[in-house]
Amino acid sequence: MRIANFSLAGDSTFESVNSYTATAAINISHLGVHYRTQEALRDVNCIVKPGRLTGIFGPNGAGKSTLMKAMLGLVPVSSGKVLYQDKPLMQQLGKVAYVPQRSQIDWSYPATVWDVVMMGRVKKTGWLRSFSAVSRQVAKNALQRVGMIEYCDRPIGQLSGGQQQRVFLARALAQQADIFCFDEPFVGIDQKTQTVIFEVFHELADSQKIVLVVNHDLGESISHFDDLILLNRELIATGSRQQVLTEENLSHAYGGKVMYFSDAA
Ligand SMILES: Nc1ncnc2c1ncn2[C@@H]1O[C@H](COP(=O)(O)OP(=O)(O)O)[C@@H](O)[C@H]1O
Ligand SMILES: [Mg+2]
Repeated sequence: MRIANFSLAGDSTFESVNSYTATAAINISHLGVHYRTQEALRDVNCIVKPGRLTGIFGPNGAGKSTLMKAMLGLVPVSSGKVLYQDKPLMQQLGKVAYVPQRSQIDWSYPATVWDVVMMGRVKKTGWLRSFSAVSRQVAKNALQRVGMIEYCDRPIGQLSGGQQQRVFLARALAQQADIFCFDEPFVGIDQKTQTVIFEVFHELADSQKIVLVVNHDLGESISHFDDLILLNRELIATGSRQQVLTEENLSHAYGGKVMYFSDAA
């Protein structure tokens, strides 16, 4: 189910744009990453388009998280470049909302749900300036959208995995970014959270945002994705879901015979 007309108060960036030019995409060219002596990614070339829900798929250790981190300058690249609107993406990180894998977040951090979502407003407001009424309204709308407004005073560490993931989604929404990057958002969450997350992803894509999601589950949920980047240390295939989801590509990426949700293609 898609919910149309989702918008955040005072947010002109959520207005729909009906078309995009190639330069509005992220262009990844000849990207390589080494961890010490180990090559994690070799010569990856792909385009991530606005208005599409794009999944990065591949087996464990394929370099999915590494690709996302390298795009955002969180790990050093050994070759290649990542451009957005013809300029290095790393020089435009203010336009990016990134939610890392849950396992990489310190849940003992003493912050309430409200604090976590307001952190998404820091880039707009600055640490030392008090949050404006607009920022508070944007944060409130974001928490309402993910069904977590009643939890705003709760310490983040006390929530279930799904609730935590929804709070991080709200923080990303509050950032009012152009590019949304999520690493394994569906791990360890409940069905309701999965439904909300996919609804929001589709809303963001429908409003011409770039939505890039690391996932590894080849089950039914793969049919939500418009475009796929299939990786295993190097790019196996990229393009529309239908183009990428072939038995040949999947066995190349995952090895052997692969079970996947075949109606998705
Ligand atoms: N910080 C790191 N230092 C050394 N090796 C790493 C580091 N992060 C990831 N790796 C290695 O790089 C490869 C790709 O990892 P990763 O991008 O996390 O894969 P995926 O997200 O697809 O499971 C793996 O072999 C992993 O062990
Ligand atoms: Mg990973």
